[in-house]
Amino acid sequence: MPAYKKTCPTTLAAVSLCLSLALGACGGASSATPTTTSPVSTATVVPQPGAQLFTTLGCHGCHRPAGTGTGPDLRGRFGQQQRLADGTTVVTDEAYLRAAILDPTAQIVAGYLPGMPAYGNQISAAQLTELVQYLKAQ
Ligand code: HEC
Repeated sequence: MPAYKKTCPTTLAAVSLCLSLALGACGGASSATPTTTSPVSTATVVPQPGAQLFTTLGCHGCHRPAGTGTGPDLRGRFGQQQRLADGTTVVTDEAYLRAAILDPTAQIVAGYLPGMPAYGNQISAAQLTELVQYLKAQ
């Protein structure tokens, strides 16, 4: 009989230890799940506004792949040198992209005619940023 009395408290202690470990593991897992999924869904949403603007503002009608539109192909341009009609060369950075959208006639790309409408009065500062972010990612 003393043998039975001895094993009983030991088993209870083991069970409660197991329970607290299981609860701890469970709580850790459930709090980790939402933190890993939310940044992923945010990242996939970010490039969308600029892509939509590129279509709704009509940019895509002139800026088409490999010279099939009246404007230059804008893909893969970010960070590259751009020759202008006046013989100078500029680097395609954010400031250049902003200026090219707001006031296209100020700097004309070599080999192209001025034909792009100025968007300075048509888009908000936020929309301009979205367009520039979109073009940077192309
Ligand atoms: C009616 C045709 C047309 C439309 C619409 C148009 N563009 Fe253009 N775009 C051009 C032409 C032509 C050029 C080259 C001449 C120049 O530099 O202005 C150009 C040049 C550019 C450049 C400089 C490209 C380079 O290679 O350095 C950028 C950036 C640009 N456009 C962005 C846009 C964006 C963004 C939109 C929409 C908000 C847009 N364009 C709408 C015709 C167009």
